[in-house]
Amino acid sequence: MAFDNLSDWNRTAYCGDLRIDDVGQDVILFGWVQKHRDMGNLVFIDLRDRQGVIQVVVGSEKKALLEKAKKLRMEFVLGIKGTVDARGDKLRNPQLSTGDVEVQAKELKILNASAVPPFVVSDPPQATEELRFKHRYLDLRRPSMQQNFKLRHQAALAVRNFMSQNGFYEIETPFLTKSTPEGARDYLVPSRMYKGRFFALPQSPQIFKQLLMISGFDRYFQIVRCFRDEDLRAERQPEFTQIDIEMSFVSKHEVYDLVEAMLAAAFAVIDVKIDRPFPQFTYQESMAKYGTDKPDLRFGMEIVDLTEISSSVDSPIIQGALSSGGAVKALLVPQGASLSRSQLDNLGQKARDLGGKGIIWIKKQQGFKSSLKLQDRDFKTLWENLGGSEQDLALLVAGETDTALKILGELRLELIPEEAKKSGVFRFAWVTDFPLFEWDAEEKRLFSMHHPFTSPQDEDLRFLEEKPLQVKAKAYDVVLNGVEIGGGSIRIHDLEVQERIFRILGLKPEEIEAKFGFFLEALRFGAPPHGGIALGFDRLVMLLAGEGSIRDVIPFPKTTSSLCLLTGSPSDVSDKQLHELGLQKKGDG
Ligand code: AMO
Repeated sequence: MAFDNLSDWNRTAYCGDLRIDDVGQDVILFGWVQKHRDMGNLVFIDLRDRQGVIQVVVGSEKKALLEKAKKLRMEFVLGIKGTVDARGDKLRNPQLSTGDVEVQAKELKILNASAVPPFVVSDPPQATEELRFKHRYLDLRRPSMQQNFKLRHQAALAVRNFMSQNGFYEIETPFLTKSTPEGARDYLVPSRMYKGRFFALPQSPQIFKQLLMISGFDRYFQIVRCFRDEDLRAERQPEFTQIDIEMSFVSKHEVYDLVEAMLAAAFAVIDVKIDRPFPQFTYQESMAKYGTDKPDLRFGMEIVDLTEISSSVDSPIIQGALSSGGAVKALLVPQGASLSRSQLDNLGQKARDLGGKGIIWIKKQQGFKSSLKLQDRDFKTLWENLGGSEQDLALLVAGETDTALKILGELRLELIPEEAKKSGVFRFAWVTDFPLFEWDAEEKRLFSMHHPFTSPQDEDLRFLEEKPLQVKAKAYDVVLNGVEIGGGSIRIHDLEVQERIFRILGLKPEEIEAKFGFFLEALRFGAPPHGGIALGFDRLVMLLAGEGSIRDVIPFPKTTSSLCLLTGSPSDVSDKQLHELGLQKKGDG
């Protein structure tokens, strides 16, 4: 097929922008054929561009034009010259923002054809994610995708403007660098010049942003790509974007204020005014009330501690848990009595999967029904302490405290009420005062809960070495609707404290020198007190867009098994390339 040239045609309007006020205008449009219907002496074309879809009508006045329109197929690329016309009352399409109008075509250029697409470009998508990712450029033609990336652009712009207005400089940090410990594996890049040596792609710019504070820049930010080789989930990608922030001479309160104001600027993009200040929970409070350090505050159902009043409850299961130092924790599910036996069994299985012995359930439906045989007096005591009503359900876990909280935290999320899930609800929270370290039972050593540059709280410095697991950190996370959207801390600026932390983490002096010598050296030269935070930009945009996965707001994402289906990467490389890098494949690779 011979195609038309663009020649001197200049677009005068986007398809998706045409409205009733444009009636009578002569327009030149460009776009892709979403759909076309051949009615014999009329052809209707749904023409799509990044702004949306418009109906184009080709009538029978010009025979050659009609014949040409009959040749169209899905995803052909067109230019249309025509006049905007009002649609008759009966023909209006309220589903479409351009639905009051259509364009009567006078000329039509076929600028390119398209092979039959492997799936129809439509919202919601019909094809599997695998097929869509393989042809992501087609998938991105979906109006919802075009909208998401417009939103992503606007949110980035709002953040940049806000940060700049507040005195922050955007400064770039290197991608070819040395490993920064953020808890994941590094992506390594072999050096050709120095065979056997590797750069690491940054898991975050943490050390560099601290160095920038030592350099005196005072306020830094960067919208920056980070790389982490870790197991993926809906809200994780191996490369993702952070809004990375660092400030000198600040308290955590200043960080909170700044981040809240920045998020307000980002949410203004979707015309949402967010409630500030955000509620704050210590890590301990959050764990006790919600069984997680990412509390979803879109609904209540806080965990209740029944340990004390359970001491009088006549049940071997409960008494057994208490006598071995455990706790009784519970969740009241309003109107939850309607849950079926199999739904309750599933919750019990989930509890066992999480390391518990199961759950005890109690329903009030004209009297108590329960998985546990109890005296009426005991049911009443428990129920009163839970504040239960008729048709409610209580879920109890008796056992080791942390496990009980974790189980109820997960079950709480399983039972999230429908109305809490409706779009447009945004509930933020700060979670503060995290433990500085956590114990890894497998590796039998301490790890930093955030990263090793996080400052311990001043009053805990005394027992850093003696009781490391009791040391609290000047660390904070910001959570939105149960998703961790950011984390940060006040940093260590005192060389001696930094060295103590590395030693407690079990690093040998040679290791400290090899990995962090350059940073410790920098701390010797007048490091200011400083602190900051990084926000997951993809997660933020995902929530702004009302999407369920960050893959919907990343143009060319990896699959959950870390593959790029579009390019087929990671891919093999030639022996020559490997040789140049001083590398050799081992066995079957
Ligand atoms: P942290 O590791 O908590 O902190 O990361 C900050 C935020 O980045 C987002 N995030 C991710 N998003 C998508 N995919 C991933 N794989 C992924 N990993 C993290 C999360 C998270 O809250 N240097 C510190 C920050 C600091 O202390 O200033 C850091 O990187 O939303």
